[in-house]
Amino acid sequence: MQPIVEVTVAAVGLVIPAAGLGERLGVGMPKALFAVGGESLLVHAVRAGTASGVVTSVVVAAPMGQAASVHSMIERELPAGAALRVVDGGATRQASVRAALAELPADVRVVLVHDAARCLAPAALFADVAAAVAGGDDAVVPGLGVVDTLKEVGPLGEVIATPDRSRLRAVQTPQGFTREILERAHHEALRRGDNDVSDDAGLVERIGCPVRVIPGHAEAFKVTRPLDVELAEAVLTSRRGTVEESP
Ligand code: CTP
Ligand code: MG
Repeated sequence: MQPIVEVTVAAVGLVIPAAGLGERLGVGMPKALFAVGGESLLVHAVRAGTASGVVTSVVVAAPMGQAASVHSMIERELPAGAALRVVDGGATRQASVRAALAELPADVRVVLVHDAARCLAPAALFADVAAAVAGGDDAVVPGLGVVDTLKEVGPLGEVIATPDRSRLRAVQTPQGFTREILERAHHEALRRGDNDVSDDAGLVERIGCPVRVIPGHAEAFKVTRPLDVELAEAVLTSRRGTVEESP
């Protein structure tokens, strides 16, 4: 008979970079504090992460100078016993994640990094990513097939290449890592002088560690431009309808 291998998820820290300016959204405030469906993107993101049931502590990188108000905005969202720390973010997403990583409680062994801007990522996606890391992968990212044909172009708009679309994935967050690998990847990036790599898996790849893609979710899209706010509002309206209809 096959032995039953029980995978215990170690203490899981949720790191939320939320310090960006939201220039492409253009709402005159840091994007993570902008509200859809009556709550800030950050509150939605924290709720989803904690609703997964796997997160034992949360560290948020807040817009510069707003750590105290962000702390009081989200402390009521945390389940009893979960730790919350809020730090000032940095000038790049990478610097914000680095600042938050430095505040993770000592017991954390698995880290989920999740953009506040992907505010509607379902709770189950956090659990899936954490389970994949607990199951033995050092680095796990959710991803979806791309619908557009992508072209690599040069500075004058000339097409250089058309990668085979079937081999491409648009990656999302939460991205999950063993703490050791993620800390090493950030440390090495700093040493190399890389300071603006757009996702954490990209840093992990650069230290030669394999990264695995698992199925992502359409609702884990990133609120980036004004049209994304309309999509987020529509998703929230549809979720409310589903809850009201259920017995
Ligand atoms: N982020 C961060 N610190 C930064 C830049 C970005 O914590 N210095 C966070 C954002 O708050 C967001 C996530 O990283 O949750 C993804 O970044 P993005 O969608 O680019 O958000 P912004 O940088 O805020 O938007 P823009 O690039 O349009 O200014
Ligand atoms: Mg940005």
